[in-house]
Amino acid sequence: MKQQIKRIKLVVEYLDKLNLEDKLISFYLDKTILVTGGAGAIGSNLIIALSKLVGEKGKIIVLDNLSAIKINDPWNITPLANIMFVKGDVRNEIDLKRVFNESPSIIFHLAAFFANQNSVDYPEESAEVDVLGITKLLEYSKFLKAERFVYASSGCAIYGSYPKMPLKEDFISMHLTTPYQINKMTGEMYCNYYNHMYDLKTVNCRFFNSYGPGESPGQYRNVIPNFLYWAMKGLPLPITGTGEETRDFTYVLDLVQGLIKAGFYENAIGENFNLAAGKEIQIIELAQIINTIVDNEAKIVFKQRRKWDTKPRLLASIEKAEKLVGYKPLVDFKEGLLTNIEWFRDNWEMIEKSADFPPGISSAVRDAKEII
Ligand SMILES: NC(=O)c1ccc[n+]([C@@H]2O[C@H](COP(=O)([O-])OP(=O)(O)OC[C@H]3O[C@@H](n4cnc5c(N)ncnc54)[C@H](O)[C@@H]3O)[C@@H](O)[C@H]2O)c1
Repeated sequence: MKQQIKRIKLVVEYLDKLNLEDKLISFYLDKTILVTGGAGAIGSNLIIALSKLVGEKGKIIVLDNLSAIKINDPWNITPLANIMFVKGDVRNEIDLKRVFNESPSIIFHLAAFFANQNSVDYPEESAEVDVLGITKLLEYSKFLKAERFVYASSGCAIYGSYPKMPLKEDFISMHLTTPYQINKMTGEMYCNYYNHMYDLKTVNCRFFNSYGPGESPGQYRNVIPNFLYWAMKGLPLPITGTGEETRDFTYVLDLVQGLIKAGFYENAIGENFNLAAGKEIQIIELAQIINTIVDNEAKIVFKQRRKWDTKPRLLASIEKAEKLVGYKPLVDFKEGLLTNIEWFRDNWEMIEKSADFPPGISSAVRDAKEII
């Protein structure tokens, strides 16, 4: 309970700092909103923010099959009175009827078969969830005449290995390297199609590497939760590459800010834009910072780069998001990382239970031979 209150406080303090416009606040009040993937890393933060914005008379419906964690326990969903959790699948008609029966007026579609390596291992299921899933959701949203459909797209699924940084929205790559990337890009195209054909008010938000409270580690998860987990266990941090690779790590509540704004501002309709910190951090620097903060003496081991991982750098331009919806990341990397570490410490028992690392060689590093 203490942890849940702390989590709510983090979101409320962040919302206060945002100084959201009155018209946005009154827009969200009393609304019924569907968040697919609401038990996940980003969704579990978004639903707290939305719960506050819609108020007592509003309702947040979460549709999530809990497949991202090892245990069948929605512990990542903060138990707020106006949040309704439906354990179900975006591919399943019965589950979709159940949630659309509540008449949501805004849909945030965050459920996904996460992520690159998972889709390499299971390409068909990746397509079923990420392509079939979104077409079903868009169909229901069209029938229901939803006011807005906000899609969690991915920077890594659009720009391929394009070397010109910062990455701007006017370029797309036809040379993607995993089924996840292909399927997420297809999702954007379906949103554009429903916008064009049926005037559904769709928005494509292209996230860059999220981190922060809410993400448990696992064989298919992001580098930050995995590094934190291994460092806290006193294990060496495996770098799959030279360590000079960079990522644009984005604090999860900054992504939530972008989503809330994408759900409201008219300028966002039919558009696509990056949501990122707009700063690069090297993986080796990340590993060193984490090892220092958590006092891990096991240091770093270098492994071979995974074949699909063809991006030496990722840095997003956030100009378009700023121009269209007034997006401005607020949380500095060090500050966000410290909050993430605190969340790990506070929730260690549940994180340990949720962490999905099957016995044997983890997919996170399984093809990677150690480099001496
Ligand atoms: N985390 C990132 O760095 C990042 C970067 C770019 C894009 N994205 C996108 O943002 C969204 C959210 O990312 P996240 O990090 O919170 O991922 P996540 O895996 O933590 O959350 C996704 C949630 O969807 C649920 N889910 C998976 N398959 C489902 C299905 N068939 N039916 C219902 N629920 C299902 C999972 O249980 C999970 O709780 C995803 O769409 C992802 O592709 C994330």
